[in-house]
Amino acid sequence: MKPSMKPETFLLAATLLCTLLGLGYPLSCEVCTSDGPNCSGKLKTCARDEDSCLVVVTESNTKGSLAVTSYKGCAKSSECDSGSFAVTMNTENYMGSTRRCCKNDGCNQDPLPAFVRNHTENGLRCPSCLAAFKETCTATQDAVCVGEETRCVSVSGLAQLGIKFAARGCGTETACHTKPGTLVPSGSRLLTIKKTSCHPSSQASGKAE
Ligand SMILES: *[C@@H]1O[C@H](CO)[C@@H](O)[C@H](O)[C@H]1NC(C)=O
Ligand SMILES: *[C@@H]1O[C@H](CO)[C@@H](O)[C@H](O)[C@H]1NC(C)=O
Repeated sequence: MKPSMKPETFLLAATLLCTLLGLGYPLSCEVCTSDGPNCSGKLKTCARDEDSCLVVVTESNTKGSLAVTSYKGCAKSSECDSGSFAVTMNTENYMGSTRRCCKNDGCNQDPLPAFVRNHTENGLRCPSCLAAFKETCTATQDAVCVGEETRCVSVSGLAQLGIKFAARGCGTETACHTKPGTLVPSGSRLLTIKKTSCHPSSQASGKAE
């Protein structure tokens, strides 16, 4: 029985110490928002509960006006997903977003490849509506689904100044799993997704599941 520490024990202790120190150390992320596929801003210290840096690029068509918007900032990992999603309410209102979450200082500085919308109709249709100041909306028309939008989704959330919005339409499978709190820049607004749910595309003509 030697009193000296085994190498494994030492390694474990060192790792534990680093983890503990890491937890108490605030993260810094680049913070910016602008039109276009990339934005530049200063590195800022995140709040204690924000353990991720986020970079998002969104292509959104709002009432027929197409915009590409970039956003970089701090986020909570519980509200941050890497990947992309797309939703379509109608030909004049749709949105596609690519995002990346990472956990090192300044790791959100590099731009993301721009979101590329697939405009090819896939034969599916979903009930569709769009409403402000509401948490739900009643479908008034059908959305024609494109690309990988194989699900019918309902989305609700907050626009800036806490204004509620609700939307229904076609969505990608990834849109069904959007974490509550996910931020989506859209034109001059920053939307917060609060809830998404998916329904089978009952009015599908074709490869519905
Ligand atoms: C775009 O991103 C790069 C990082 O790869 C950065 O160096 C550059 O300043 C950015 N450009 C603009 C216009 O924001
Ligand atoms: C675009 O969407 C159509 C319909 O879902 C699909 O057949 C096609 O492969 C997609 N194209 C690309 C480049 O992903």
